[in-house]
Amino acid sequence: MEVTKCVLVVDVILIITLSQNNEASKLTPAAHPLSYALPEARELKKALGYNEDTYFNFTELTSKYGYQSEEHTITTDDGYILKSFRILPKCNGNKLYPILLMHGILDTSDVWIIPGEEVGIGYILAANCYDVWAVNHRGNRYSRRHTTLDPDRDVAFWNFSFDEIGNFDVPATIDYILQATNTPKVFYAGHSQGTTDFFVMASLRPEYNQKVQVSFHLAPVAWMSNSYSPIPRALSANVDLFKGVLDATGYIELLARHHLMHLVLEVLCHIAPEPTCGLALSITTGYEQGTIDPKVLSVAFGHLLSGTSAKSLAHYGQLVVSKKFKRYDEGAEGNLKRYKQKKTPEYNVSNVASPVVLISAKNDWFSSLKDVGTLSSKLPNLLENYVVPEPKWSHHNHIWDARLRKYVAPKILEYLERYNN
Ligand SMILES: *[C@@H]1O[C@H](CO)[C@@H](O)[C@H](O)[C@H]1NC(C)=O
Ligand SMILES: *[C@@H]1O[C@H](CO)[C@@H](O)[C@H](O)[C@H]1NC(C)=O
Ligand SMILES: *[C@@H]1O[C@H](CO)[C@@H](O)[C@H](O)[C@H]1NC(C)=O
Repeated sequence: MEVTKCVLVVDVILIITLSQNNEASKLTPAAHPLSYALPEARELKKALGYNEDTYFNFTELTSKYGYQSEEHTITTDDGYILKSFRILPKCNGNKLYPILLMHGILDTSDVWIIPGEEVGIGYILAANCYDVWAVNHRGNRYSRRHTTLDPDRDVAFWNFSFDEIGNFDVPATIDYILQATNTPKVFYAGHSQGTTDFFVMASLRPEYNQKVQVSFHLAPVAWMSNSYSPIPRALSANVDLFKGVLDATGYIELLARHHLMHLVLEVLCHIAPEPTCGLALSITTGYEQGTIDPKVLSVAFGHLLSGTSAKSLAHYGQLVVSKKFKRYDEGAEGNLKRYKQKKTPEYNVSNVASPVVLISAKNDWFSSLKDVGTLSSKLPNLLENYVVPEPKWSHHNHIWDARLRKYVAPKILEYLERYNN
């Protein structure tokens, strides 16, 4: 399918979604028409012959594959309660720093272990003696909690984008890990929005650069004006509408694990992974069908779509339109209140003083090489801008394609080893 057609399809879906929400204005998040709460239905999935990895959670998966894991609870300064998982190193090496893994939009900590012990980056790192912390940002299935707000009743819970995740979740998580492990620094690796989160933190809270030994960015996303993906394009075409709806209805949760959309995709991917989920990835990210094992794809879609805030998507839409990497535009009045100025401030990535490794792909519609080039030209401490030498490599190949053992893992392990001092 051509990109223009995809844009049209995504456009229509967005408009329907948004107009539905518009009618639902003044409702609590749980009462939004898209929030059909569905039971976990594990027995049903078993009966239907699902691969158990599809519904296993992080702890169950790690123990199935023979890795020891722990569960940790971290509270941010603004009250969000985050669940993080730690995979203990599977050998006795002498590694100085733990590594923090941050997933992308609509994902969870699970993305790092979904492809199993041979390919999952979380396992590969633990097998190489690293202390691995696969964390979760606010709002996904593991982190739908707050000290005072109820995600099902309070729209204020969903008033966040990657700005708050970078400003609160990542720093809180780093501090927690440093304390728990009694080390002065962490390594950081992010995928997709997990990279945006990092650049937000390292720009807005530059003192955190001292707590990061090296960061790795798989499919880096900051500047987005050259993104080919129909999702940001459709978002940008409707960015005012989108913001208008958010202002009118309050902030909502999108595409959560307990929503109908998740179940539909999960069932379709169970029955026919390539033609459905492969296609879904391919029209949104440029994924070349057949490059990821269909078994991994069907497991992945049991974990993907784990919820985020509509505001996160709206913020990405703003990046596409403005052609800048900047904070959320709350409108002139809102900006004045929030930033003490009418114009939305840009993130100043000149502040990213810690060493950065970018890992990008030639066929990634979200993270285009041109936009990665803009980012890399502004980073003061760039170690390498590595482009995987495969013409069809895309957004998710970095984390789920078996060939990551050849193209991605050695690159990360090499730098980890070199900076283990
Ligand atoms: C994972 O699943 C197990 C078994 O069903 C359950 O006891 C545990 O609480 C779950 N953990 C999380 C974090 O959901
Ligand atoms: C959402 O949060 C931002 C940042 O804290 C704040 O400026 C804004 O007023 C909030 N919006 C609503 C509708 O509460
Ligand atoms: C961005 O940060 C750099 C380095 O910290 C600083 O020299 C520069 O003045 C900042 N630019 C803006 C526009 O604040």
